[in-house]
Amino acid sequence: MNAVSGCLAPADADTVRREFAPRLIRWQRRHGRHGLPWQGADAYGVWLSEIMLQQTQVATVLDYYPRFRSAFPDVASLAAAPEDEVLRLWAGLGYYSRARNLHKAAAQVSRDFGGRFPAERSELEKLAGVGRSTAAAIAAFAFGRRETILDGNVKRVLCRLFALDGDPADKAFERQLWQHAEQLLPPAAADMAAYTQGLMDLGATVCRRSKPDCAACPMHDICAARRDGRTAELPRKKSTAAVKQQTLYWLDLRRADGSLLLAKRPPKGIWAGLYCLPSFDSLAAAHAFAEQCGCPAAALHEEIPLTHRLTHRLLEIIPLSARIRQPETPAAPYQWVSPAQLPDYGLPKPLERYLQHQAA
Ligand code: ADE
Repeated sequence: MNAVSGCLAPADADTVRREFAPRLIRWQRRHGRHGLPWQGADAYGVWLSEIMLQQTQVATVLDYYPRFRSAFPDVASLAAAPEDEVLRLWAGLGYYSRARNLHKAAAQVSRDFGGRFPAERSELEKLAGVGRSTAAAIAAFAFGRRETILDGNVKRVLCRLFALDGDPADKAFERQLWQHAEQLLPPAAADMAAYTQGLMDLGATVCRRSKPDCAACPMHDICAARRDGRTAELPRKKSTAAVKQQTLYWLDLRRADGSLLLAKRPPKGIWAGLYCLPSFDSLAAAHAFAEQCGCPAAALHEEIPLTHRLTHRLLEIIPLSARIRQPETPAAPYQWVSPAQLPDYGLPKPLERYLQHQAA
């Protein structure tokens, strides 16, 4: 039975401001997530984990974080690494601009901050890929600064706690949410790590988007949405942009020795900086390129298509494969890569899946 479930008096905003932090901290210590490898880490580890966790689930980051830390034990080793090596270790986590920004930010820390992460949120926000909420998480976890995070989960908690009806994607409404969040902070620096983790944990495990577990919530009796029976409708849904469908043609061209043709993707756009099969928007363009490589279009064999979901796009990928007897080597960014060298290249997830399927 939840400790506060007996008292049902509606709460005013002052009561919520007084009660929220101490309840959250107590709840986090008993019911929150503990033992995550980045908890209690130095600023480098906190920053690295927060960037990984921006768009990736904890279960996946548990796998990537230790590998990344062993490859780059500190910010200096990350700054000194070649970008390809960083992207290779990131491959599969998606949203590759995060990896490029990570590399840039490591160079900024080395160059602009004498190799040490700054403790102030405003300074942390100068680092590539670090927005206000991520900067606040680093400042709070690594330095005990009284700064509030405000990610999607926290926005949901606040919209329900105060029964706020705005659209969380709206800039003016978001400013209000920052103000609410700041007013809830606990007074003591020593509580900032448990408090910040508690915000994340409450949103992720109790105040879930669908089927929130209000019976287990430490804010049960002071939550306005719960009081008004509005947890299902808050936060208001933002209008969803339609998902566009796009077809891509991949050329899977192999030489007699088994090497395949890869191209480094440009620095902007989908799979930026990773290595991919030559990719085209139209069948005609794929045929023309195959001919340039010494492969007649008629020799191409259509493989089973793949689908891959991006944030606003659903890709249908049609691989066309052929063995080429007398291959030409097209100019950069194309290169022939032997199967033994493939593990050294950062590949997009769907390409990894495709190659595994072809090898099986
Ligand atoms: N999501 C973002 N940051 C997190 C953290 N430090 N722990 C768990 N989930 C998170």
